[in-house]
Amino acid sequence: MAGDGTGEVWCVVVAAGSGSRFGGPKHLAELRGRTVLQRSIDVARRCADGVVVVVAPGSDVGVDGADVVVAGGDSRSTSVSNGLAAVPAGAEVVLVHDAARPLASGSLFARVVEAVRDGADAAVPVVTVVDTIRDLDGGTVDRDRLRAVQTPQGFRAAALRAVHARGAEATDDAALVEADGGTVALVEGERANLKITEPADLDVAAALLDRAAASGGDSAS
Ligand code: C5P
Repeated sequence: MAGDGTGEVWCVVVAAGSGSRFGGPKHLAELRGRTVLQRSIDVARRCADGVVVVVAPGSDVGVDGADVVVAGGDSRSTSVSNGLAAVPAGAEVVLVHDAARPLASGSLFARVVEAVRDGADAAVPVVTVVDTIRDLDGGTVDRDRLRAVQTPQGFRAAALRAVHARGAEATDDAALVEADGGTVALVEGERANLKITEPADLDVAAALLDRAAASGGDSAS
């Protein structure tokens, strides 16, 4: 039942991007025996009651373990909206996860769900910024005031549905909920939860998986 802390958790895995910076659909790249997309689905499967996968229109991507597969749109927000439309009305928590982040751990998913169950309208994993950031207008930005945002992001289902019903566009759904007056909780992200963007990121991800496998970490499963 919604609001009693035990309602269903559904995860929308968005994989409808063109991967222009990667040079092709990066979620189909192989990463230590499974595609990037399949790895993202597999962890979502373990942490959610249901999984909706959003793929590019017309693509016949192999997807194991999804409850529903829907077509995405031209923007990430449209893809999220299309996925959200396939989430059952009774879901209490909706997670949105980029297929391009195949190393998010089960513990990270659990922290995000817990923050929403604890009362936040949205919960986002963040990590500190290690680079010095330069403003193009001149000067550097105080990086102590900055955090880099990852996925999975978690939402009280009604809060996410409300912003998407208005057709709002952003690369970050939590920003939309916040602009709508919702509360956003920050949870500790993971340095290893990198977003595959360029081909070299795949090599880094493979190395991280090897290291996690050697030490028994849960993103290596
Ligand atoms: O392009 P970027 O890496 O920021 O995309 C983040 C995630 O959003 C990727 O997993 C990508 O497949 C997804 N996406 C989508 N539909 C779009 C654009 C991006 O599902 N139109």
